[in-house]
Amino acid sequence: MADALADSTSDASLERTRLRSEQIEAQIDVDPSRFRVLTGDRPTGNLHLGHYFGTLTNRVALQNRGVETWVLVADYQVITDRDAVGEIQDRVLSLVADYLAIGLDPQRTTIFAHSAVPALNQLMLPFLSLVTDSELRRNPTVKAEYEATGGRPMSGLLLTYPVHQAADILFCKANLVPVGKDQLPHLEQARVIASRFDTRYGRAHADEPVFRAPEALLSAATNLLGTDGQKMSKSKGNTIEIGMDADTTAKRLKKAVTDSDRTISYEPGRRPEVSNLVLLAALATGRDPRDVAAEIGDGGGGTLKRVVTEAVNEHFAPIRARRAELVADPGYLRQVLAEGNARANAVAEETLTEVRTAMGMVYG
Ligand code: TRP
Repeated sequence: MADALADSTSDASLERTRLRSEQIEAQIDVDPSRFRVLTGDRPTGNLHLGHYFGTLTNRVALQNRGVETWVLVADYQVITDRDAVGEIQDRVLSLVADYLAIGLDPQRTTIFAHSAVPALNQLMLPFLSLVTDSELRRNPTVKAEYEATGGRPMSGLLLTYPVHQAADILFCKANLVPVGKDQLPHLEQARVIASRFDTRYGRAHADEPVFRAPEALLSAATNLLGTDGQKMSKSKGNTIEIGMDADTTAKRLKKAVTDSDRTISYEPGRRPEVSNLVLLAALATGRDPRDVAAEIGDGGGGTLKRVVTEAVNEHFAPIRARRAELVADPGYLRQVLAEGNARANAVAEETLTEVRTAMGMVYG
C-alpha cells in the first residue's frame, strides 16, 4: 500500500495520470457540474509569476468554465517546517488580494482558511488512525520537504501533513485537485484514506462511500525560472511578484541573466536564461515563444529585456491596479474570507457528522 505513494511519481503512473487528466479536461467541457475542485497555497509570501503562470491562471480558467472551485489559504501548513508564522495576518490578506486581483470571483469560488474551519481539522484524528508512520516516512513529498529544512528535526506536523492535506481535500468532497507532479503523493494519500475509511467504518448512507476518491488534474507544466535562470524562489531574490510595481519589475528584469549571443532564440536546454525571458514575454502576451524570439532576432539581451519588461508590465497593469484597490480595503478582504470560512464550516460540519455517524459516535 505504502508503495502506491512512491509509485505515484513513477514514469508509468505519471503517464496514466497525464492521460486521465486529458480525459477529465474533456469531461469538464461537457459537464463542469460533475466536478468540485479544491486547491490552495501556504500564505508564506507574495505570489509571483511562477505561481501565476504555473497554477493561478488555470484556477481562474476552471472557475470560468463553470467548475465549482474551493481555494484554501493553508495557514496551518505554514507551521509544518518553521517555528513561527511571521506576519500571518498581512500574508493571508495579501494572498486573498492576489486571488481576487487575478480574477477569482468570491461569488463562485470559496476562499477560506484552515484555522477557521474546526470540523476540517477534526477529520485529521480519524484519518491519522488510517495511516502508518512508515507510510508517512516514505512519502516522497514529506522527504523532500524535510531535506529542504537542512537538518531541522522533523516536526510531527510535517510528518503528518499529508493527512491534514487529505482532510483539506476530503472535507468538501472535492473530486478534482489541480496539482504539479510533486504533490501527487499527497493526492494518492487522500485516495488511500478515503478508501480505508470506507473499508473500516462502512457507509453512513446506504450504498455510497462517505468520501469519493479525488483525482489529480495534472497541469501542463509551465516551468518559469527566476531572473537568474535558477528555480524561482523568494529567498533568492529572483522573483517577480504579481503585486510588484512596474519600476521594480523593470529593475529586476534589467538585472536578469542573459548570454553573449546577440541572436535571441528559444532553446530552453541550451540557453536556459535567455529562453526563460523569451518564455515570460510569450506567456504575458499569449504568443508562441519561438515567434517572440524570431521577432527580436539579433537585437541582443537589451532588446529582449525591453520586450519582456513591456510585456509583463502591460499584462499585469490592470491586475496590479485592482490589487492596489483591494489592499487599500482590508475590511473587504476580511469579509470575503469570513464568507468563505462560513461556507467551508457549513460543509465541514456536514461531513464531520457523516463521519461520526459512520463511526457510531453520534450521541443524542
Ligand atoms: N501543499 C500546498 C502548497 O504547499 C498547499 C495545500 C494545502 C494544498 N492543502 C492543499 C494544495 C490541498 C492542494 C490541495 O502549496
